Amino acid sequence: SKTIKKICCIGAGYVGGPTMSVVAKQCPHIEITIVDMNAERIAAWNDENLENLPVYEPGLQEIVAEARGRNLFFSTDINKAIDEADMIFISVNTPTKNYGKGKGMAADLKYIELCARQIASVAKDDKILVEKSTLPVRTAAALKSILDNTGNGVNFHILSNPEFLAEGTAIQDLINPDRVLIGGENEEAIAALVNIYAHWVDQSKILTTNLWSSELSKLTANAFLAQRVSSINSISALCEKTGANVDEVSKAIGMDTRIGAKFLKASVGFGGSCFQKDILNLVYIARSYGLTEVAEYWDQVILMNDYQKQRFADNIIQTLYNTVSGKKIAFLGWAFKKDTNDTRESAAIYVADYLLNEQAEITVYDPKVSAERIYADLDYLNTRSSEENRLLVKVVNTPYEACDDAHAVAILTEWDEFKSYDWKKIKDQMKKPAFVFDGRKLLNRKQLEDLDFKYYAIGE
Ligand code: NAD
Ligand code: UDX
Repeated sequence: SKTIKKICCIGAGYVGGPTMSVVAKQCPHIEITIVDMNAERIAAWNDENLENLPVYEPGLQEIVAEARGRNLFFSTDINKAIDEADMIFISVNTPTKNYGKGKGMAADLKYIELCARQIASVAKDDKILVEKSTLPVRTAAALKSILDNTGNGVNFHILSNPEFLAEGTAIQDLINPDRVLIGGENEEAIAALVNIYAHWVDQSKILTTNLWSSELSKLTANAFLAQRVSSINSISALCEKTGANVDEVSKAIGMDTRIGAKFLKASVGFGGSCFQKDILNLVYIARSYGLTEVAEYWDQVILMNDYQKQRFADNIIQTLYNTVSGKKIAFLGWAFKKDTNDTRESAAIYVADYLLNEQAEITVYDPKVSAERIYADLDYLNTRSSEENRLLVKVVNTPYEACDDAHAVAILTEWDEFKSYDWKKIKDQMKKPAFVFDGRKLLNRKQLEDLDFKYYAIGE
């Protein structure tokens, strides 16, 4: 099969950056250029100070330090990178559409189509195109039509190669994946991509399928994972009414090998850029084929997640004597999970919004998320003016500042460092009774109760 010497990846985001860094590390003989139309992002990827990389992932800085300038390059010259590459990964964002038909449901494919048109117009020799972005099933057919109708008479082979990395563990997931999935029609193109992964992934874990199975498997995997979280969260509500403890229930059911122990941690609700977007997309696709029951089945996963976030906020309000107006609530964590600076769809955003509607004052501390990001997340909701958001929400640099004089602490992200804080010092600084609402079941109930905290955790 064709040996790939040069790769171009369009999209230098949370997927493109880490994924291509790992390919560059594992395949020093392949030259990889990651391009993006966002010049600021590319500049950050090229920053000498590795702390300034646009994506925070454990282990990423070391890999970029090793490969950047050797066989890994970040550039805004998209045409040049397309022209020179044998294989082009498309790793651009596919957000939920916020206009027109399918608004709030369908995936917005405008960035994907722009890539296809740009590739078609630039390419002067045959290219293999790899769908790395998460796409609705049958997108490859649309891409093929654009390429064949607008190209320069060269051949394009399209592969689907969805990415299963989770943020916070991206490098580890990429180096040691459960499986690599490659969908396609052309044997030679499939073999070319298989050979790249085979440099570090065991052949038995490289799965090849037809295009449509591969595209649909990505949406399905995220739907199943999110469904587990919503399922255990639904049980957490029942635990709170009955005296059962959701961690004990998780453990008891997870030891059944048919169920499995992973992804059964009750929480304030799942966030992240993928789960909600991909399920909405699945629901939209099912509806568009007239499969109403299928659509409604999966829609419940999202409704349960919204309910969980609302429930967490309601419990805070109710416990604080039915009013949080003018009360300071300290948020520990804003990221959608630990070990990432990503906040997209984080439960913290929605819990904050509910509490702000009740006129709470919120102080936020997150070890990796900037104040700018937090205000942008709130402004994006359009619930109140950005002046009001800045007045009601303060972002601080230490947890102790966040908790000082607060009526309650709410844990929104499971950062490890929260466990080792001086909780006695925090208690002494707070208004009494000092409440802790643990949306991640992170802290030790006994330790906190011994310190005289009123401790509330999901599902207990
Ligand atoms: P992202 O927003 O972090 O990055 C996408 C980048 O693409 C942006 O920097 C944007 O400027 C760039 N871009 C968009 N259109 C472009 C164009 N025409 N030319 C050049 N650059 C362009 O998104 P992400 O989180 O990396 O996700 C990318 C895709 O991967 C999505 O489809 C997502 O569903 C999927 N995915 C994400 C994850 C995850 O954990 N974030 C995991 C698996 C799959
Ligand atoms: C997810 C998928 O795991 C990954 O395979 C896919 O490629 C992208 O989407 P990601 O969103 O980065 O990855 O993180 P993930 O670990 O799946 O967590 C998603 C959300 O679910 C987080 O908010 C997390 O806190 C929450 N979660 C996860 C729970 O509340 N309980 C769990 O048991 C697991």
